[in-house]
Amino acid sequence: MREILTVKNLSVIYKVEERKIHALKEVSFSLREGEILGVVGESGSGKTTLGLSILSLLDEKAYASGRILFEGRDIFSLSEQELLDIRGRKIGLIFQEPAASFNPVLTIGYQFREILQKKLNLKEKNLVSQIIYDSFKRVKLVDEERILRSYPHTLSGGQLQRIAIAFSIALSPLILIADEPTSNLDITVESQIIHLFLRLKEELNLSVIFITHNLDLAKVICDRIGVLYKGKMREIREKETLFREPKDPYTKELIEAFKKLE
Ligand SMILES: Nc1ncnc2c1ncn2[C@@H]1O[C@H](COP(=O)(O)OP(=O)(O)OP(=O)(O)O)[C@@H](O)[C@H]1O
Ligand SMILES: [Mg+2]
Repeated sequence: MREILTVKNLSVIYKVEERKIHALKEVSFSLREGEILGVVGESGSGKTTLGLSILSLLDEKAYASGRILFEGRDIFSLSEQELLDIRGRKIGLIFQEPAASFNPVLTIGYQFREILQKKLNLKEKNLVSQIIYDSFKRVKLVDEERILRSYPHTLSGGQLQRIAIAFSIALSPLILIADEPTSNLDITVESQIIHLFLRLKEELNLSVIFITHNLDLAKVICDRIGVLYKGKMREIREKETLFREPKDPYTKELIEAFKKLE
């Protein structure tokens, strides 16, 4: 399978006053086209830092080294203008907190139209409505008219996460990075969103980096799983082999811990 994104020796250090936090240490891996790659790790292991690095969205306290290759170029070498063309448009990002994707004082419809205009330069009303309609249909949102007139706070977390996914796929990205997209949702809603990701992967041939602390969830949704521990990618394997014959001691511990939970 073709590799769509390659991370090489990525290290990220946050400098906070005199302190240095090594959030990522020489992380290397590739994302294959059409796969869901899980990145599993406990809190503070560097998962979000990894997601933000790929979109070059790290804050000014962060010092990154290494390379992130996408479409033949290193993300870190791109200009702000070139990055704008990649963020959202080619690589989408879904956050843990559904509300984080929205502006609270604007209606969903306004925000959706604005994204389509800014990112795709679309102004023609019928075309915009068609794309919105298609995207809502893909994520199985009904009652579209009401949702478009609504403000974010009047909708449920599950609805908002579906809308955030609709916003993302409307731009036809090649890659979606989902950072714990279901950990703030009820378990039934979580399962619906997981199935949505699986369906979108098939229908749109999306390549997904699915970040989670939940190994059981990764087992359901991912094709391959990478285990991140204290900033290091300890191992990355096909899901079945990872569970059958984990090599790394931390992976073994993690699998045992989840077995006990079951
Ligand atoms: N903006 C920041 N400034 C300083 N330190 C940071 C910043 N963001 C993250 N860190 C630190 O870097 C390390 C990795 O954090 P990160 O948020 O990437 O982990 P995570 O795996 O996403 O954790 P969680 O599961 O809690 O979301 C942690 O020690 C964290 O405190
Ligand atoms: Mg995080």
